[in-house]
Formats: sequence, structure tokens, C-alpha cells
Amino acid sequence: MTEAPLAIEASGVCFTYQEGTQALTDVDFRVKAGEFVAMLASNGSGKTTLIRVLIGLLKPQKGVVSIAGRDIRRIPPRELYQRVGLVFQNPNDQLFAATVEEDVAFGPRNLDLPEEEVQRRVSLALTSVAAADLRHRAIHHLSFGEQKRVAMAGVLAMSPSILILDEPTSGLDPAGEEKMMRLLNRLNREQGITVILATHLVDMLPLFADRIYVLNRGRVLSHGCAEEVFGDYDMLHKAGLRLPYISTLLSEMKRYDGVPINGLPLTVGEARKRLMELIPEDLIKRMETDLGVTGRNP
Ligand SMILES: Nc1ncnc2c1ncn2[C@@H]1O[C@H](COP(=O)(O)OP(=O)(O)OP(=O)(O)O)[C@@H](O)[C@H]1O
Ligand SMILES: [Mg+2]
Repeated sequence: MTEAPLAIEASGVCFTYQEGTQALTDVDFRVKAGEFVAMLASNGSGKTTLIRVLIGLLKPQKGVVSIAGRDIRRIPPRELYQRVGLVFQNPNDQLFAATVEEDVAFGPRNLDLPEEEVQRRVSLALTSVAAADLRHRAIHHLSFGEQKRVAMAGVLAMSPSILILDEPTSGLDPAGEEKMMRLLNRLNREQGITVILATHLVDMLPLFADRIYVLNRGRVLSHGCAEEVFGDYDMLHKAGLRLPYISTLLSEMKRYDGVPINGLPLTVGEARKRLMELIPEDLIKRMETDLGVTGRNP
């Protein structure tokens, strides 16, 4: 199988803010087309700065950013904003029109698309974020979670091939967090959109992220799949991060109670599988007949 081409790449990027804070040091960051990649880091580690560098809002003093192999400095802004969609952490920084429909239509209208196509994109974008019913609402009457979805629709209406989100789940309730992650997963898997998100939430990443970059004080501390990243406890500790709760529970059962759990489960599904392996077959059979519980099924 041929390797997917690079969607976005930062090489040797250093960025220092005018007043002297060195926010990024020698950052190498690569995402292949169609990947779902998370930047995982504690507060102040440089996630937002890296995102701004990746979309050309900040110019690094050292290093290069390329989109699909082209130096970002040579891509005209209009083309860049069509290819790469950025969803800000705070929807208030993004939404500015009076109504949802006007806001989501703003980008496509600026591309001088026929009104019919603008309306088609608005409907599609609102439907993909489950906000079709908000179309005629006033922006300032929306709840925070609704505003976040509408801000995302505005970006999706531009049909970007890369979607970058700065803490897309911040300020959402637990059900909203999960819905947002599932929505991003769908956009990635069904529409092939490359998804890059900044977060400090660890619990849901093993379910969704193909790869994770851990940042610490503006440097890349580690990168790899969830198993690689969460398997390095010392590195996580250094980055001020933790294991997913389910992994902490099982690793403590292993360490302190001697429960012979295989590997380090990172999700509830994996944890359940590992625990079920430890239950004797005859007990599972009894559970199935006595209690009507289905044992080994997922
Ligand atoms: N406009 C700015 N001017 C000066 N320093 C800044 C500016 N924005 C960020 N910084 C500094 O750069 C460093 C990285 O900040 P950044 O906002 O990129 O981190 P972050 O990982 O996004 O944090 P958070 O999780 O809190 O959003 C911090 O030390 C921060 O104080
Ligand atoms: Mg930030």
C-alpha cells in the first residue's frame, strides 16, 4: 500500500512572542492526509501557538510549515483558508453575524459561489453538526454548546480538507464532549477530512486519535499511537498529564492487588475484555444461564 501524502508539516519550528516568551522550540509535527491527530498538552505548553503557526496566523522565526508539500508562505491566503479550517477554542471569537444562517453562509458567499450552492453548503454543514434546527436562530440566543457547533458548521461550509480545532470539547458537558468527538470521528472517517485537535483531555483520545503528539514547554516530548504515548508513564508525568482513568484503575489492580491483567487497557471496551479473560469459563456459563447475562460478547 502506498503511504498517504502529508497533509500538513511543521519542521524545526521556533516561535517567540514579541515580549520574549519562547512558545515553540524546534517543533517537528507531521500529519498525513486522512489522519486524526491530537496535540495533547497541559496549559501553556504551546498548543494554540502551534495551531496559529500551522495555519499561517503567526510566522515562525525559524522552521517551515507546508500544506500538502507546499511552503505555506507561497499559498495565497484565499486558497489557504479554503483548504484549512480552524475552529477557535471560544466560539465568540469566530461568530459575528446576527443569525446562524448568515454566519454559516458568510464563508461560501465570500468565495462568490452561486446562492444555490451557498444554501446547499449551509444545509449540509448545519446537518453534519446536528444543528439544522438552529438555522434561523439569533446567534446571541444560542447556548455555548450550540455556538460551538455553529462555529464548526461555518468552517465546514468552506469544505476544508484539513480541520484544526483548538480544544473543541472545552466548556461542553460530558455528553457534549462525547458527541463532539464522535462528530469529528465521523467527519474524519466518512468524509476523509484530516482532523487535528488540541486538547488536554486524555480519556477519549485512545478511542479516536490515530496518533498523539505530546507537547511540553513548547517542545514535542513524544509522539505515537495511544499505546506508545500512554505506555510511557514517566513522560506523561513530565508533561503534567495522566493516564485515562480506566487505565489507572486497571494498572492499580495489577500493581497492588496482583490481578494478572494483560497489557495496559486504554478504553472501557479493552478493559472489559481483559477482565473477562480472567473470569473462568464455567462461571461465565453460569452467569449466562442463571442471570441471563451474555458473558464474552462485546
Ligand atoms: N499573545 C501572546 N503574547 C505573549 N505570550 C503569549 C501569547 N500567547 C501565548 N503566550 C505564551 O506562550 C506560551 C504558550 O501559550 P499557548 O497559548 O500556545 O499554550 P496552550 O497550550 O494553548 O495553553 P492553554 O491550554 O492554556 O490554551 C505560554 O507561556 C503563554 O503565556
Ligand atoms: Mg490554548
